[in-house]
Amino acid sequence: MRRAVYPGSYDPVTNGHLDVIGRSASLFDEVVVAVLINKNKRTLFTVDERMDMLRMVTEQWPNVRVDAWHGLLVDYCREHEIGVIVKGLRAVSDFDYELQMAQMNLQLSGVETLFMPTNPIYSFLASSLVKEVATYGGDVSSLLPPLVEQRLVQRLAEQR
Ligand code: PNS
Repeated sequence: MRRAVYPGSYDPVTNGHLDVIGRSASLFDEVVVAVLINKNKRTLFTVDERMDMLRMVTEQWPNVRVDAWHGLLVDYCREHEIGVIVKGLRAVSDFDYELQMAQMNLQLSGVETLFMPTNPIYSFLASSLVKEVATYGGDVSSLLPPLVEQRLVQRLAEQR
């Protein structure tokens, strides 16, 4: 069983994430999209809300599973017999930090990291930017699945 994990905050999931998920799903028998819980990071959506959105927008891929984890990613990999971490690279600026993490994870546990260049149409896309644009009423409909856009607009309205 070739199993990979695609970790992130997913606050919320974007079309850029979905592009990487779909392409990974064709490379591996199973892809686990793992919401990594970082208690020091303020998020707009709860872990359950983020997982719920992820489950709905990844329904089309039967070999994609959604999970959450608090702790080291390599411990998640060990516990779930996952040998590969998938990371999307949007631009060279992502590379420095991602390389450092990949090397640390390799050193900690021998788990490999696969860097997947994102589709260039999403090279500028980040959940944080999407939230900022949407906060001030900008149109983010081309950047998110419709269901996620709906929930984002609703959450931002609740916060006003
Ligand atoms: O979507 P993000 O916030 O850019 O994802 C970053 C994430 C969650 C993938 C990264 O911070 C991570 O792997 N965190 C888990 C904790 C861990 O293993 N830290 C050591 C990394 S070498």
